[in-house]
Amino acid sequence: MLRKKLLVGNWKMNKTMAETTAFGHASFELLRQAKEKHIDIGVTPPYLSLQTLLNINPKLIIGAQNVHHLPKGAYTGEVSIPMLKELGVSWSLVGHSERRTYFNETDESCNLKVLALLEAGMTPLYCVGETLTEFEKGVTKKVIKKQIDVGLKGVKDVKEVVIAYEPVWSIGTGKNASKEIAEDICGYIRGLLEKKYGADAHLVRILYGGSVKPNNIKEYMDMPNIDGALVGGASLSVESYAELIENM
Ligand code: 13P
Repeated sequence: MLRKKLLVGNWKMNKTMAETTAFGHASFELLRQAKEKHIDIGVTPPYLSLQTLLNINPKLIIGAQNVHHLPKGAYTGEVSIPMLKELGVSWSLVGHSERRTYFNETDESCNLKVLALLEAGMTPLYCVGETLTEFEKGVTKKVIKKQIDVGLKGVKDVKEVVIAYEPVWSIGTGKNASKEIAEDICGYIRGLLEKKYGADAHLVRILYGGSVKPNNIKEYMDMPNIDGALVGGASLSVESYAELIENM
């Protein structure tokens, strides 16, 4: 297997520290289960819970949901990469569609974050995806190409990046993209990377995200260019997280 399977739960603005503690204690069993199936697993909790989870189970992949690209300065409300690194956080989402929609993130700002994370030796999990209007207009590939070209501009070692294809219309809607659509776009992304990076493109893990549930995750995992899933709602409970692993 060229690429190890990967399951990441994006908790968004959910779970207090007490709730995270409960999940952390239960996560040892999840890790055991994942190890047996040769799957990497992780979560991206809110900033306040990162330390909590790292203290309990640092063997999980623990990522932030966002970072600022500068190391420090007058940016009220922001969190920098050195702060996260000091905690032991080694991953961060970049450009999640909710950040693009509600917090005005652009491909250009995502690019700064991707480069800063790589420079710090951290893993960016870069999210791309088209809106419903773009999907209906049939311009998905054009949108994705720009997100990949601009977001990853200047990246030298693409193996260190993980990509998630999350069509905006499928996030939190229960309308997951069909496995054919998801494979078509994940394959397209790999093709774009191949043109630029050659064989290294085949080492990049590309995830699908958007209404992934225990009962549909397997469909995606059977696709050649989909290496795992970025899951919101269904990653919140330990039971559901365990079922996702089981069915991958
Ligand atoms: P849902 O799985 O809740 O649709 O969320 C997907 C997502 O945005 C993960 O980052």
